Amino acid sequence: MRDIPKVELHLHLEGGAPPAFIRGLAKEKSVDLSGIFRADGGYTYRDFWHFLQVYEAATSVLTSPDDYARLTTAVLEESAANGVVYSETFLSPDFCGGGDVGAWREYLHAIREAADRAEAQHGITLRGIITCIRHFGPERARPIAECAAQTAGDWITGFGMAGDELKGKPADFKWAFDCAREAGLRITVHAGEWGGAQSVRDALDALQPDRIGHGVQAIDDLALVDRLAEDGIVLEVCPGSNVFLGVCKDWRSHPIEKLRERGVKVTVSTDDPPFFGITMTSDYENLNRHFGWDEEVFAEVNRTALEAAFCDAATKEKIAKRLGTKAP
Ligand code: ADE
Ligand code: ZN
Repeated sequence: MRDIPKVELHLHLEGGAPPAFIRGLAKEKSVDLSGIFRADGGYTYRDFWHFLQVYEAATSVLTSPDDYARLTTAVLEESAANGVVYSETFLSPDFCGGGDVGAWREYLHAIREAADRAEAQHGITLRGIITCIRHFGPERARPIAECAAQTAGDWITGFGMAGDELKGKPADFKWAFDCAREAGLRITVHAGEWGGAQSVRDALDALQPDRIGHGVQAIDDLALVDRLAEDGIVLEVCPGSNVFLGVCKDWRSHPIEKLRERGVKVTVSTDDPPFFGITMTSDYENLNRHFGWDEEVFAEVNRTALEAAFCDAATKEKIAKRLGTKAP
C-alpha cells in the first residue's frame, strides 16, 4: 500500500505538522503548549470543535516564513514516504501574515522554495489552495480571497473554505468566492462533514464548487448523491479523519464505497494526518481491509484525483507518468 503512487487533494498544511515539530517550535519560542499534548507526545482534544482550537493553538507557534518553510519540508517528507507523488495543500493567509497581501507573499515564497527542494529530493509535487476559515466569518474571508487573487497562477491554483461548517452560511462568503473565481482559481468547499446533506446542497447552490471537501453526509440524501454523480462534482473524502473524529462510527459504516458504487467521483486524502495518527498508507490499508479495494480500484481513484486536480495540463502529464497512466 505504501508503494502505490498516490494523488492527495485535501491536506491542511498546518494539519500536517508533526507534534514533535510543534513542540520543538514552542520550546524555541518559550510558548507553553503543554495542554495540547498527551503524555506520549501526540495531540489531544475532546471532539471536532476542540480539535479546531488545538489546531489553532498548535498553529500559533508558526510565526515566520522560515517556520512555514520548515513545516513544508516536514510535511512533504512524510507524504512522499507514504507514496504521495502529487499533493494539493490548503494554505491559510489568516495564519501566514494575518491576511496582509505583502506578508502573505513572503510566506508563499518560503513555502514554494521548500516545495521545490522537496520535489528535487523526494519527487513530490505540491500545489497550493488558499483557504478561508468559515468560523472566522465572511468579513475576514475577503482579504484572504484578495491574497488568493493576487497570487493566483500555476502554483496557487484554487480557493476553498475550511473550519466550522455549522457557523454561517456559504452564501455569506459569495463575495470571497466570486473574487477568487474571477482571478481564475478553481473552487472547493468543506461541506457535509458535520453539517449534513443540506450543507452540501447549500455549498453547491451558493458557491458552485468544482469539488467538495468531505461531502460524505450526502449519503443521507440519495437525490443529492445522484446530483453529485451527474454533475461530476468530485468529493475529497478523508475516511481516516472521519472515523477518527467520529463523523462515522467505524470504518465499516463509512459511506465511501456506497458513494463510489452510485457513481460519485470519490478521491482519498488524510486532512490532518498527525492529528489523527493516520497516513495515506494506513487509510489505503483500511480501505483494502474493509471494502476490498485493490490496486485496480486505487489506480482508478488516483486517476480521478489527477483529473480533478487544479494544476495545469503539463503538470498533469508529468504526474500521469508517475501513476503509470495517460494524462486526463
Ligand atoms: N481544518 C482542518 N481540518 C479540518 C476539518 N477536518 N474540517 C474543517 N476544517 C478543518
Ligand atoms: Zn479539511
